[in-house]
Amino acid sequence: MAEELFILQSNDKKQQYESLLPQLEALVRGETDLIANMANIAAALKETFGWLWVGFYRAQNNELILGPFQGPIACTRIGYGKGVCGTAWKEAKNLLVPDVDKFPGHIACSSSSVAEIVVPILDSSAEVIGVLDVDSERYDILDNIDVVYLGKISRLITENHFTF
Ligand code: SME
Repeated sequence: MAEELFILQSNDKKQQYESLLPQLEALVRGETDLIANMANIAAALKETFGWLWVGFYRAQNNELILGPFQGPIACTRIGYGKGVCGTAWKEAKNLLVPDVDKFPGHIACSSSSVAEIVVPILDSSAEVIGVLDVDSERYDILDNIDVVYLGKISRLITENHFTF
């Protein structure tokens, strides 16, 4: 396993993701603990992209519960179908929210967050087991490239066998 993250300095974030993905694969390969993998992935994403907040929520019964993250403290529990995270869970789909004020029911964990992406994490039976959430202080940095690559990253988590 790589002990140090190599961060490609580039204006092209696709290239940055392409450089990051194999490193994340190496990080999670062979490690079956879900929390450990989520923690390292959140840290690597924060270090690479410097977003305000990046982290995971895990689906437990009828709520999402805060998991490993990097950034300011956040809401600990989000109901099914609530906010951007709960909606991504309920609809089992990726949500790109370029302006959180335009998303009815958005939950403001931090007043600095203005844009957000939430990607559901699906297990092998297509059950949502959690979400990967990214929050930005800027309106212009999250787009479909992030959605595509965050989707690939979320799949790394469940391709590995894991334990809670
Ligand atoms: N904004 C999210 C809540 C989670 S935090 O942003 C970390 C939402 O509306 O679900």
